[in-house]
Amino acid sequence: MKAVKITDKVYWVGAIDWNIRDFHGYSTKQGTTYNAFLILSEKPTLIDTVKKEFYPEMMARIQSVIDPKKIQIIISNHSEMDHSGALPQAVADIEPEEVYCSDMGHVDLTEQLYPNFTMKVVKTGDKIDVGGDTISFVEARMLHWPDSMFSYLEGENILFTNDVFGMHYATSKLFDDENNEIDWLYEAEKYYANIVLPYSDIVLRFLDSVKKMGLAPKIIAPDHGFIWRKDPAKIIDLYAKWATQAPNNKAVIVYDTMWGSTQKMAEYVADGLREGGTEVKLMSMHSCHRSDVVTELLDSSALIIGSPVLNSEIFPAMADVLCYLKGLKKKNLVGGAFGSYGWNPAPINSLADMLKAMKVEQVAPVVTSKFVPNQATLQSCRELGLAVSQKIAEKLK
Ligand code: FEO
Repeated sequence: MKAVKITDKVYWVGAIDWNIRDFHGYSTKQGTTYNAFLILSEKPTLIDTVKKEFYPEMMARIQSVIDPKKIQIIISNHSEMDHSGALPQAVADIEPEEVYCSDMGHVDLTEQLYPNFTMKVVKTGDKIDVGGDTISFVEARMLHWPDSMFSYLEGENILFTNDVFGMHYATSKLFDDENNEIDWLYEAEKYYANIVLPYSDIVLRFLDSVKKMGLAPKIIAPDHGFIWRKDPAKIIDLYAKWATQAPNNKAVIVYDTMWGSTQKMAEYVADGLREGGTEVKLMSMHSCHRSDVVTELLDSSALIIGSPVLNSEIFPAMADVLCYLKGLKKKNLVGGAFGSYGWNPAPINSLADMLKAMKVEQVAPVVTSKFVPNQATLQSCRELGLAVSQKIAEKLK
């Protein structure tokens, strides 16, 4: 296992996880990478580690450049265990002089790893001398954990950004200029939607404050996916766009079905949206993953939900996706609800409360169908789609 050179003194020494398909409930169809970085200053410095089971891979890559024992400093930019899992073993084997983290990193690393080593806390604006080179720190609280922190290698102008600007994308091509946008863009959107979306206001404030600090990164090195060396502004601009959550003429219908009635209703709602001139994604929870639903919702202006009734509850897959979407807090949505029932319509009407809890502006009453929808009910579904489309058009004016 070899390190990959980023510049004359900075190497990627991370691991590629080709096989992971579920990252705490987020489907990672293209695997991921856990990026760690070695800076060959007079005091060799390791930035972040990898998931515990990938420790041998990281150490082999370090070994391909220097004896790991020569590392004097380890920086933990983020305590989540895909980056800190290997930290205790690394500290035990390397015996660095110092381990640096943010103040919340100290708390979070302590409560997850119960470390038997000491850590030094750094805060925004602090700088450390790594022997001829300077690393400065910027806390990035809630991007996406309280402990998140960026490290900036001055001179080389490399910004190490932990999860931010990353994506779950396993690739042997570790730089932006080696990868095709058509292959990675969906994964970058998916990462933003599933990890960063609830913190979009913080993203906008943070991008502004980083600009004011005068940081001008030539290279952005996140902890997942590839490294941005040709066009780091590309991912910054995408974050600014996604964080703004401006309206688009697109709607997502999420539904599940039992005997096909709710599906039929969904298709008529979609037809109304199409008739109104709105792009629509029809997503059945029989065949779509919750993490793809939120990805489609990222650039959408409407969420319309449909469920049958089972045991006087909405369908379990709908409860799952609605719980997930609520947590991710997509803003500026309009929408509505529909569904088929046998004898108890209350669970379908409760979908309106769920939309309300998600701050989705409802443009029409819930459409319900007792068993199989008749033509009048299907027309109501079409009108729901049209009403949503018209509301989006008003917002786009
Ligand atoms: Fe890649 Fe928040 O961990």
